[in-house]
Amino acid sequence: MNKPTVVSGIRPTGYLHLGNYFGAVKNFVKMQYDFNCFYFIADIHSLTTHPTPGNLQAGVKQVLAEYLACGIDPEVATIFIQSDVPEVTELYTILNMNAYLGELERTTSFKDKARQQPDNVNAGLLTYPVLMAADIIIHKAHFVPVGKDQEQNLEMVRKFAKRFNRMYKKNVFPIPRPFTFDGADMLKVPGLDGSGKMGKSEGNAISLFDDPKEIRKKVMRAVTDAGPTEMNAEKPEAIQNLFTLLDIVSKPDTVAHFDGLYNKCEIRYGDLKKQLAEDIISYTSPIREKIVSILEDDAYLAKVAKMGAEKARESASKTLNEVKKVVGFNSLF
Ligand code: AMP
Ligand code: TRP
Repeated sequence: MNKPTVVSGIRPTGYLHLGNYFGAVKNFVKMQYDFNCFYFIADIHSLTTHPTPGNLQAGVKQVLAEYLACGIDPEVATIFIQSDVPEVTELYTILNMNAYLGELERTTSFKDKARQQPDNVNAGLLTYPVLMAADIIIHKAHFVPVGKDQEQNLEMVRKFAKRFNRMYKKNVFPIPRPFTFDGADMLKVPGLDGSGKMGKSEGNAISLFDDPKEIRKKVMRAVTDAGPTEMNAEKPEAIQNLFTLLDIVSKPDTVAHFDGLYNKCEIRYGDLKKQLAEDIISYTSPIREKIVSILEDDAYLAKVAKMGAEKARESASKTLNEVKKVVGFNSLF
């Protein structure tokens, strides 16, 4: 029986952090046996921020090692590097002809990036969701496991896939959907700085590669306040964020314990942070050790990337050939 297809990717712009892990990679691992999975390293997407060639290469190698260390099995799922599959950029070019300036300019991630890097508002940033659409629909994916921050980009992807099918009056592409287990909400892992999401460039992240000392230091420095002054008070954002992190990494009784103390105004944030740091460390330590050992094995990494590229190209070229026929290329000769 044919398994549904899954595609997802991560940009090689730094060490993977808890947001990447709990928002995406943990689900990649869980899905690999029940779905036909393609997991890639979005190196073309990362060019929008102009990395040096050296940084780009190191970033790609790091994410590849991190995928493997987290438990993605390259014999089961297809792991590949985006730029190894040129068919993707060909489909991107075709899809660009039906992506409109107005809708691209209105995308939140574009507006955010344009604000963050006003001196580098390049066309790649504008058409970021189109390349993402090509990544996904070139494998005719049904599901895309991503964190909450990708919800709008995925909505654009769905729009482009539907538009292509409608324009050429043929159901070439399934319409991909975001995926979470058991219908859970898409996850947004908060940062340690009191507001917003954990992000590589926000300086508020704990990475899988941080050592225990670094993790303790970062967690102990997380933003808190003077503590509740009345019983059962609503938690301010910075405090709620710590509880959200606790919810993700700790046992339910640990969360209930600190919640009870908070509601009785007896909480000591130092104790909560110590517990949070230890629970994060017990998650990340085994992964960190594996990353370190995999990074030493260049031959293995190269073998995984080559095997993945072959499988991904086979799948991608099949779809691209179909698209070219539908569009009218190759039709005369
Ligand atoms: P990026 O690092 O932006 O390439 O993100 C790669 C994946 O991690 C995407 O699926 C994101 O949705 C997910 N992700 C990144 N940050 C977070 C976060 N703070 N919470 C949940 N998911 C996240
Ligand atoms: N845009 C994603 C991010 O920044 C990365 C990405 C690129 C992606 N192409 C994708 C994710 C295709 C899922 C599917 O997090």
